[in-house]
Amino acid sequence: MKIFLDTANLDQIREAASWGILDGVTTNPTLMSKENLKFEDLVREICKIVNGPVNVECVSTQSEDIVKEAKRHAKLAENVVVKIPICLEGLKATKVLSQEGIQVNTTLIFSPNQAFLAAKAGARYVSPFVGRLDDISHEGMDLVDQILVIFDNYGFETEVIVASIRHPLHVVEAALMGADIATIPFVVLEKMIKHPLTDVGMDRFLKDWSRVKKK
Ligand code: G3P
Repeated sequence: MKIFLDTANLDQIREAASWGILDGVTTNPTLMSKENLKFEDLVREICKIVNGPVNVECVSTQSEDIVKEAKRHAKLAENVVVKIPICLEGLKATKVLSQEGIQVNTTLIFSPNQAFLAAKAGARYVSPFVGRLDDISHEGMDLVDQILVIFDNYGFETEVIVASIRHPLHVVEAALMGADIATIPFVVLEKMIKHPLTDVGMDRFLKDWSRVKKK
């Protein structure tokens, strides 16, 4: 399973890249609004650090405008993928963009039918938001499971990005289901490394090492 970092923060992206586990980045307007750099400069910087897809969201609402905005985003760097929220106008834009070779990540997916239609329209990725479904007492990971089955049934090449991840268990479940990608906030990524028994074990090894007879 590929790991994307769900952030627009350059320090977090540099740090995760240095761990050797980073396959891509997803951003959205909310994440962008937390940073100080101008939008275009920030996208260019992220794209320089990341050796993989960098997802940048469109905010236009009419298909012609979405296409224009997506093309502007795509010109910022070779590894830009445009995020388009699922809607009728977004589907129309996805069809045009995918035919022109611009990769689309259809975002804000909350139902299997939305993912199915996005894949039919040519989306390269779909992003089901599991945490936001959990927030309203729906089982977010069930949606991922259903999308994976549908894509497998019909041989869609569209990749599933598990998004709105809130804790390490979401990542485990995504990997067990065979999701293509998990896009993970930095705090969750840090938690994935930790285990109290590892800390205890390291502590004990260090203490015992100090008692080992050396030259
Ligand atoms: O990238 C979009 C998604 O991951 C948002 O997460 O926590 O705002 O639901 P959240």
